[in-house]
Formats: sequence, C-alpha cells, structure tokens
Amino acid sequence: MADLVYQRCIDPACGGTADLADTTFRCPRCGGLLDVAYDWDRLPVPKSLKHFEGKWANRTHPLDFSGVWRFRELLPFAPDDAIVTIGEGQTLCQRADSVAAYAGLNPGRLFLQYEGMNPSGSFKDNGMSAAFTHARMTGANRAACASTGNTSASLAVYCAATQLMRGVIFIGSGKISYGKLSQALEHGALTVQIHGDFDDALRRVQEVSRQLGIYLVNSVNPFRLEGQKTIMYRVLEARGWEVPDWVVVPGGNLGNVSAFAKAFHELRALNLIPRLPRLAVINAAGADTFYQLHEKHGLRWAGGRFDRSEIDGYYAALDASGRKPDTLASAIEINRPVNLPKALRALECCDGVVRAVPDAEILDAKAKIGAGGLGCEPASAASVAGLRALVRENVISPTDSVVCVLTGHVLKDPDETVAYHSADRATFDAKLGARGVKSVAFPNRAVQVPNDLAAIVRAIESHT
Ligand code: F0G
Repeated sequence: MADLVYQRCIDPACGGTADLADTTFRCPRCGGLLDVAYDWDRLPVPKSLKHFEGKWANRTHPLDFSGVWRFRELLPFAPDDAIVTIGEGQTLCQRADSVAAYAGLNPGRLFLQYEGMNPSGSFKDNGMSAAFTHARMTGANRAACASTGNTSASLAVYCAATQLMRGVIFIGSGKISYGKLSQALEHGALTVQIHGDFDDALRRVQEVSRQLGIYLVNSVNPFRLEGQKTIMYRVLEARGWEVPDWVVVPGGNLGNVSAFAKAFHELRALNLIPRLPRLAVINAAGADTFYQLHEKHGLRWAGGRFDRSEIDGYYAALDASGRKPDTLASAIEINRPVNLPKALRALECCDGVVRAVPDAEILDAKAKIGAGGLGCEPASAASVAGLRALVRENVISPTDSVVCVLTGHVLKDPDETVAYHSADRATFDAKLGARGVKSVAFPNRAVQVPNDLAAIVRAIESHT
C-alpha cells in the first residue's frame, strides 16, 4: 500500500513527501500543508460513477452501507479490514423550492445537502471516520482536536462508539454552543477549556499533540479531508451523477472547500465527470479572513506561488488592532483558517468566489431553511445567505443548478433558535441583541394564552 499512497506537499515547487503512516501532518521540507496522494495508474479505479450503484444492494456490509466507504475506491488509503465506520454519511440531498424562492433561484434549481443527519449531527463524521481509520493504521490510542464544537462532538462519538481511542478536546472558553458541549461531555471525552478563542485552542492542541504524541484530528490532517470528499460523491449520486453549476459551502477552517475541490479535481482527472462545478465559500462577516484576502486583497493561489507576506501582514494587522472573530455562527468563528492555502488552490481549480454575510442575514436564512423542513445550525445557513447575495449580484443566475451544504443540525444550537423566535425582548437581547442583531424577519412567536379552554380554542382558530 505504502508505495501507492503517500502524503505530498501542496506546493508543487517544494515536492516534499511523507509516508502514508506519518502523523506530523506538515511537509518535512517546508512545513506546509499535505495532501493524500495516490498513484491512480496502479490502483483499481471504476470506469464510471454508476459502478457505485452496485453498492446499494449490499447494505448489510458495513463498508458498503457507509456513505463514506462505499466510495472507498476514491479514497483508497486503507485496507478494508482497517476501516473504521459507525454508519456515517446516510445523508439527504433534497430539492428545496421554498428556499430557492427566498434565495432568488427558479423552482427545481436548489438542492440542500443535509449533513445534519450524521451520527454526531454534522458533516464532521465523514472526516472523522477517515481520520480514525488512519489513526488505527498508525497504532494511535489517543486523539485530540481543537474545536468550535462539531469536531469535538464527532471525536467524542467516534471514541465512544469504537472504544479505539481516548479523546482529548480543546475548546475556547464560552465559545461553544450547549448542544455541542453536551455531546463532548455525554460521550466521555476529556474536555479542556482554555482561556481564548478557537484560533488559540488550535495553536495549543498542535503543540500538545506533538509533545505527547497524540493523534491530531483537526482538518490540518489530510486524511480528514479524504473522508469529506465523499460529501460531494453523495451530491453527485443524488443527482444521478450530474454535476451542479455551483456548490455553496460555509467557510471556517476551510477544510470542506479544500476537500470538495480535491474530490472534483480527482474525478475530472480520472475522467469520471465531464466538467467541474464552481465553488462559493461563505464567511460570516465577523470572521471574514478568507473573504478579505481573496476578494479585497486579490490573493490568488497562482499555481502555488501565492503571496505569503499578504497573509502574514493581514494577521499582523489583526493582532495589532486586537480584532477577534465575532459571529453568532460560532462554528465558523475563526480568523486564522489552517487550510487557507489549500482553499486558495480550491478556488483556482473550481473558479471559486468568496462572500461574507452578516449575522442577521444568516439567521433569517436559517429560519427560511427551517420553515422549508430541514433544520440547520447558524453556520450552515451562511451557505443560503451567501447564495442569496450571489444571486442579487448576478454572479449566480436563477437558472443555475445549485447545491448548498447544510453542515450541522438545528439542535446543535437551540439557544439561538429560541432567541430568534422569542417574543420576549430580554431573551432576544441576551443572545442576539447583545451580538448586534437588531431585528429578525421570520420569527414564529409562541402564543401566550391563559389556562382556559375557550381562550385556547379562540387562539388556535385565530392563528390557523
Ligand atoms: N459548518 C459547521 C457546522 C462547522 O462546524 C464548521 C467547522 C464549518 C461549517 C466550517 O467548515 O472548517 O471545513 O470550513 N467547524 C470546526 C469545528 C471548525 O471545530 O467543529 P470548514
């Protein structure tokens, strides 16, 4: 296996490589990010994506049941008997006409890829099953991450469900929603709350993992991203293998956009799809590093020769002004995305764009998504808010076919949802007003009635 699969520096000019079993997740030559690289010419690759339809009849086989591993020929880094699966990836790609109308698309043009259906309630399980597989291959017995909540929930679930690893989780103090914190605690992970935000926690967990030899499952780990490629395979599968015009995804640490572009780039190179979709990454306005650098500073991958001093200068300015990320979409409250160079490459590959949307628009989009039948957390709704902005700008046309990725489940952050719909000003202000949201467009207020049959009947009749 080791000569067919290895890790390779993303910088073509560097060309550094690392063994399949290496767990440093940094290029040994330049310290840059790594890809999982395959010698496709010597690996068995299906002739057509229709090949995967054969797996559907074999649902009692755990690897064919998994929405990640039924595509294992497209992430062939592990022998079958090493693969770790807990049944992740049973997700939906659902046509959403009411949300399409809100965003300005024609009926039938918008599909929502609902990753909230995963075992831990977010897309992270796609990557975690791949990271756990690699961790098991390398003999690890402890795994760690820094997290805004979903990576930690996923790690905790995989530790508990497989009993293969002890999980160690770093979170910023007060920076994680209760839904996610409760998962880490309930599933028994060691939870370390540090003073600081996600960016601080991520720096620390990398140091601690190195020092203690703990396997790191943040998305700097390229095996995580191999698992996340399968989100796009399932999108294609649900659409009869037809490539959409656009894929819209929220951007935090920029793992997803990097994984999606790698998926499409590989499928194109293997001649399994006829063309690439375009990618749109949506930041929250309060955590908009990628938007600023790509759209305002004009930073481009440039075949790997991107201007690092532009990034360093941007971060130095953030430090000098003391500006911290600040958004109600806490999952993407990140100012220093670790996968930034990979994401630049992704946009070059798939002719991508970045936008930043304010919290109020994210929350309104979330309410519209919920009213359409799929519940998501705030960060996920950034995709639809961003789509709406791009349609307004005429970047995306009403006739384009679009897939928005809903990354996490509505129950991840119930406090925000209740505050949004609350008729009580104090509840609203405590959660939303205090963070700069002045009003919301689509509240569904609970009706207050006395405990009296006639009054209850009157209230129901007048509201329905
Ligand atoms: N949506 C949700 C629900 C997330 O939890 C995250 C990231 C993202 C979007 C952004 O994805 O990093 O691939 O750009 N959450 C990480 C965490 C950072 O720690 O759970 P990305």
